[in-house]
Amino acid sequence: MGSLVFAGAMRHAPGIAAFTNAASPEQRASFFGATDQLKAAAAAAAPDVMLVIAPDHFSNFFIDNMPPACVTLNEAYPGPVEDWLGISKVSIKGAPDLARSILKHAFDAGIEPAFSEDAALEHGVIVPLNLVTPGFGVPIVWIMQNCQVPPLLSLARCHAFGRAIRKAIDASSLRVGVLGTGGLSHAPGAAEADRLDEEFDRDFLGRLDRNAVDEILSMPNARLDAAGFGSWEIRQWVTALGVAHDRKPRTLAYEAVVEWDTGCAVAIYE
Ligand SMILES: [Fe+2]
Repeated sequence: MGSLVFAGAMRHAPGIAAFTNAASPEQRASFFGATDQLKAAAAAAAPDVMLVIAPDHFSNFFIDNMPPACVTLNEAYPGPVEDWLGISKVSIKGAPDLARSILKHAFDAGIEPAFSEDAALEHGVIVPLNLVTPGFGVPIVWIMQNCQVPPLLSLARCHAFGRAIRKAIDASSLRVGVLGTGGLSHAPGAAEADRLDEEFDRDFLGRLDRNAVDEILSMPNARLDAAGFGSWEIRQWVTALGVAHDRKPRTLAYEAVVEWDTGCAVAIYE
């Protein structure tokens, strides 16, 4: 029987890699101290596969052709697509058998993601992996969730998707990790991009730390909208929470990093 050996969530903002030093030394120490904890936990867990739940930022899907979610079945993933990230091009091994099983278990649960065999990785996957499994030696499955173009999966639907993903993990013979990437408050490119919603971020992380799943799943869309459209990406944290439903979330760091245009948090699900 397979097992979930690692679970966490973190921010994936491009600035983390592309303009790291724009953030203050104190904020960098806090954030990277937390990602180092995730890296140590992932190394100790030694997963056979790392599932990365992350949105796509118009590198693979555009507004005219956007699935609510997509399980990628790549044999190998090229990336990053962004030359300016400061991360060298890599090819990361995929785990298509597990990916197909995830797809099947999702459909069995009444959730019907799209699938793709030729996804290219962008910052949403690469920036977190560069910190958590540097060297990119751990095979991955990228599970894309649309957080760009409404309508989006509801938070409750994301959690149920996570539960279905967990069934696929348990039915495998693999040691599997999961990393949700995205959020918190931000609105990149918008006029209000430098106005982060620290109150929203801390409220969400408080619900997470209390493991108050019902309080998370009932967060109104209007509150997410008010925190900036980037906050829609808390869906990745929620899906990862569904995968790790028998674990307890703990926030390791939170910083409102205006220079990276984002509320920036790291959590482990223990
Ligand atoms: Fe994003």
